[in-house]
Amino acid sequence: MSSAVTLTTLLPSDAEAAARLIHRSLVDWYQSRLGQGARFGDSHEPFLQFPQVYEALDPGEGLAVRDEQTNSLLGVCFTHERETHVAIGIVATSPEAAGRGVARKMMEAVLGKARQLGKPARLVSSLLNLDSFSLYTRLGFVPGTIFQDMLVKVPESGMAAPPPVGAERVREARPDEASRLADFELRLQGVRREKDYAFFLRNETGSWKVLVLEDEVGGLKGFITLGLSFGMMGPGVAADDASAAALLWKGLDAMRGSSPVFLVPCAASRLVTTLYGWGARNVELHVAQSTAPGPTAQGISFPTFLPESA
Ligand SMILES: CC(C)(COP(=O)(O)OP(=O)(O)OC[C@H]1O[C@@H](n2cnc3c(N)ncnc32)[C@H](O)[C@@H]1OP(=O)(O)O)[C@@H](O)C(=O)NCCC(=O)NCCS
Repeated sequence: MSSAVTLTTLLPSDAEAAARLIHRSLVDWYQSRLGQGARFGDSHEPFLQFPQVYEALDPGEGLAVRDEQTNSLLGVCFTHERETHVAIGIVATSPEAAGRGVARKMMEAVLGKARQLGKPARLVSSLLNLDSFSLYTRLGFVPGTIFQDMLVKVPESGMAAPPPVGAERVREARPDEASRLADFELRLQGVRREKDYAFFLRNETGSWKVLVLEDEVGGLKGFITLGLSFGMMGPGVAADDASAAALLWKGLDAMRGSSPVFLVPCAASRLVTTLYGWGARNVELHVAQSTAPGPTAQGISFPTFLPESA
């Protein structure tokens, strides 16, 4: 018989165990259901970025479920309180404790906190993972925009495809632009999270770069964050397909010699066609979920998983 479990705060000293749990849960789930465990590599070390980045960004906001007898970690979940919402992710349960309500326990605590704050909860959920999709929708989340996760292998010499129109106007963001970026996202997507952008722009670990695109008169057309250590591009927002293509091309070119992954809305068909032309391959599908779906967002959003954003 399995022993009782308890919900606690995740501590900085749990970082190693949390990284091992996240890595193991992903490898086990994707290998046993889809034969794709190798996607997550052999080592838990890259997954240390989750507890480390979140401890720097949102200290004390991580949740853990522990076995009451052994005190070992059975589940972890990270939450991010922002101006318009509470973001959630990543959620992971150790394979041995799967199906015992561990994830539900953590999610219910976060949803209780969101209700107290009077804010919706938001996350990005895999469309290949019926366990997590079902967990969230049973708890009242409503699926919205569908995204395709695309990967481009960028040669050491940089992008082979020619730069799209507008790429020449992409520049690195200035350190004081966090609130401008957050206002732009609020206007187009109805979401505000200045704390994330201030964190990237402070760039204390050298792991982040933010690119912005302006029109001829200095109006913002979009921005995108490069997670240089994480290997993903996002979060970011662009006003239209052409602006999104200019930002993605410059981001990929800046990450030359690697294979960055980024999410784009499946409905942005002109952008998706351009990306196929650059050799992009689909590696996953995700859907934005919210407990309070709003009016349809405008423009192109680039969600990511560190920090989780939708
Ligand atoms: C997704 C994950 C966190 C779920 O953890 P878990 O602790 O096993 O989940 P729980 O037991 O708390 O809850 C699962 C819920 O989904 C329900 N569920 C699962 N599959 C379902 C299906 N096909 N249809 C309907 N409901 C389903 C279960 O009945 C349960 O709901 P209930 O509590 O109302 O009965 C776990 O599988 C995991 O860690 N996966 C790898 C990491 C990952 O992919 N994380 C999500 C990132 S998007």
